[in-house]
Amino acid sequence: MAHRFTPDQLWTLDRTYGTPLWVYDAATIRERIAQVSNFDTVRFAQKACSNVHILRLMREQGVKVDAVSRGEILRALEAGYTAGDAEPSGIVFTADLFDAPTLDCVVEHRVPVNAGSIDMLHQLGERSPGHAVWLRINPGFGHGHSNKTNTGGEHSKHGIWHTDLPAALAAIRQHGLRLVGLHMHIGSGVDYGHLSEVCGAMVQLVRTTQAAGMDLHALSAGGGLSIPYREGDAVVDTQHYFGLWNAARQQAEAVLGHPLALELEPGRFLVAESGVLLAEVRATKDVGRNHFVLVDAGFNELMRPSMYGSFHAMTVLRRDGSTPAPRPTVLAGPLCESGDVFTQGDGGVVQPRPLTPATVGDLVVLHDTGAYGASMSSNYNTRPLVAEVLVDGDAHRLIRRRQTVEELLALERGL
Ligand code: LLP
Repeated sequence: MAHRFTPDQLWTLDRTYGTPLWVYDAATIRERIAQVSNFDTVRFAQKACSNVHILRLMREQGVKVDAVSRGEILRALEAGYTAGDAEPSGIVFTADLFDAPTLDCVVEHRVPVNAGSIDMLHQLGERSPGHAVWLRINPGFGHGHSNKTNTGGEHSKHGIWHTDLPAALAAIRQHGLRLVGLHMHIGSGVDYGHLSEVCGAMVQLVRTTQAAGMDLHALSAGGGLSIPYREGDAVVDTQHYFGLWNAARQQAEAVLGHPLALELEPGRFLVAESGVLLAEVRATKDVGRNHFVLVDAGFNELMRPSMYGSFHAMTVLRRDGSTPAPRPTVLAGPLCESGDVFTQGDGGVVQPRPLTPATVGDLVVLHDTGAYGASMSSNYNTRPLVAEVLVDGDAHRLIRRRQTVEELLALERGL
């Protein structure tokens, strides 16, 4: 909960833009970028928060960007990023497959491809010999805050299986592709116990590459740096993290006999704590022993609690500014689905949490929602996407206007 918003400021934003509303603090984003600036390249995994204005802010701070779809490539271009042969490229495309329009797009804009399958190398090589590629490797193990965010090991569809590296290198050679580097992203939620194993695996992959007679210029540590969602959660020591990867880089440099650039690809770490979701209380009710507070934001806006059982800190802002003693509360949204609850536990859908008592018209602030918040929103229950606002010091501005139901209906009308 690192943002700097004051209750007065949030009430002003409520009056100016209405709720539900995503709000981001530019200063917190800049602070997080500075914390990882000892990496040669910081590449923002924009899936965490892909608003063009946030991408522009990243670009102004010297951060590069990762894209995982044609849409994300076009967003990066819109934000002023360019791709091409100069390294490090402003944009890299990371995926396990190409659909046809996306393959056209990476070829047209010469976006280096971080390939997660050997089929991608053949498809790219046939279309665009000489194209720059990274290899995303699954080292055989992973970690994550939930099984759904663990991207390494046998159950994961991501990356080229480590023993297939020689076959991937052969495909690169066959098509005259240009190998830039090796990449690993084995999950979201750093686990230091694993990290030396990950770094060791990377050095081993560099040896395999060299033994195959191929060179490379960069290593990517992927993303996955966690943030303290709960009070008392560990805070990532970015110096220690860099130190471990830097040591791996040095070992790899000794193998190859020349310098290597080191990239980091964080999503959550750069934006999660900068963002809040602002919602208004619209109803309260007592259901047996449970006290429910119902707000105008639902899991179509913030999906993480319903999808992963994720915890987000929340604050009630009462209109009269008072803070009476908390009472156990279930915070829920407006959707026609009983899983539309923000206070969820690991095993159950409804887990009351001590919250300042709220009545209709009060605001609820859902914290640490800058990552995988707006970017995972949907139109479920025919609810238009909500507005986004960027705060920079005392200034605030709209960075995405509210979608309208009219715009949704237009997609289906007159067919
Ligand atoms: N690089 C690659 C190749 C990735 O697949 C991801 C995330 C990242 C970087 C950034 O990971 P981060 O630093 O944000 O942990 N929706 C989930 C997270 C899914 C992450 C998918 N890949 C959530 O809300 O926690």
